[in-house]
Amino acid sequence: MVTSSAPGTLFLFGEHAVVYGEPAVACAIKRRTTVTVERRSDSQISIDAPQLMFDGVRIRFDEGPPSVDVPAERIEEAARYVKIALDKARAVADEPEAGFDVQIESELPMSSGLGSSAAVTVATLDAAVRACGTSIDRSTLAEQAYQVEYEAQDGGASRTQTFGSTMGGAIRVTGDEHEPIGTPELPFVIGYDGGGGDTGELVAMVRNRKDIYPFVQQTVDAIGSLTRQGDEVIRAGAMGELGQLMNINHGLLAALGVSTQALDTMAWAARDAGADGAKLTGAGGGGCVVALDETSATETALEMTPASELVFRAELAPTGVQRE
Ligand code: MEV
Repeated sequence: MVTSSAPGTLFLFGEHAVVYGEPAVACAIKRRTTVTVERRSDSQISIDAPQLMFDGVRIRFDEGPPSVDVPAERIEEAARYVKIALDKARAVADEPEAGFDVQIESELPMSSGLGSSAAVTVATLDAAVRACGTSIDRSTLAEQAYQVEYEAQDGGASRTQTFGSTMGGAIRVTGDEHEPIGTPELPFVIGYDGGGGDTGELVAMVRNRKDIYPFVQQTVDAIGSLTRQGDEVIRAGAMGELGQLMNINHGLLAALGVSTQALDTMAWAARDAGADGAKLTGAGGGGCVVALDETSATETALEMTPASELVFRAELAPTGVQRE
């Protein structure tokens, strides 16, 4: 039996635009997904995930259809990443018939912009390869985990969250290049609306908008420009400007059509409470906003905002995937 864990990640800048070659900046956070894998004597797969989404999901492929009280598409989505990750692990370990018992524990709400699918993918791949008696280096793991997301999201994926979850810290990703940009101390406050969107569908929706309205490309370009600026600001340690760039980034994501009323409401609640800045993180369509505030004012304001179901602080995680 082997266990690996991987951190969640948030997008400080650049989601969606990164899919079209612009840079993104992501930060790993100290909320992890832990995956334990045991080889089976047959080639079946059993996945047990009692804590996914915080409210209990149990998926057992060897016991007929799952019976749970969460939307079926969420379960299918979680299962899709894990199943593709196990297939990749079989290929990496050259064990095409390997069967696995998989146990997943997660501190990350699913499909919420905090990289739950990247974390589960990275930890599952690492643990499953090791359960086959071999191992995988970090760069290969990051690349294979990206391939899993690419497949699960019908091509609508960047390397940002899989690389961030594998490497830890703050990371800039452009295409297939990634560069650590340190471990800046940023006072993240997260507000979660209890929902979330389908990443593949949201990426397809933005692509469609770009195809119909060629000027939408300018919004994508603007996100790229502000991400480059944000990267420089972090490297220069001049954090005061970050909030303003986050606000602009949120507005541009709203222009792409991926924000929601709940996400806008949470972002404004944070800004009105004095946060330096606030934006949605990830694909959008629901999920989380991230704000920067050293004081407790944003947490208090978000707790009082009906749109937010859960509020917590998040610290940067300097370490990525870990063998437990
Ligand atoms: C999804 O969390 C963020 C997107 O930019 C897709 C990706 O980068 O994989 C929409």
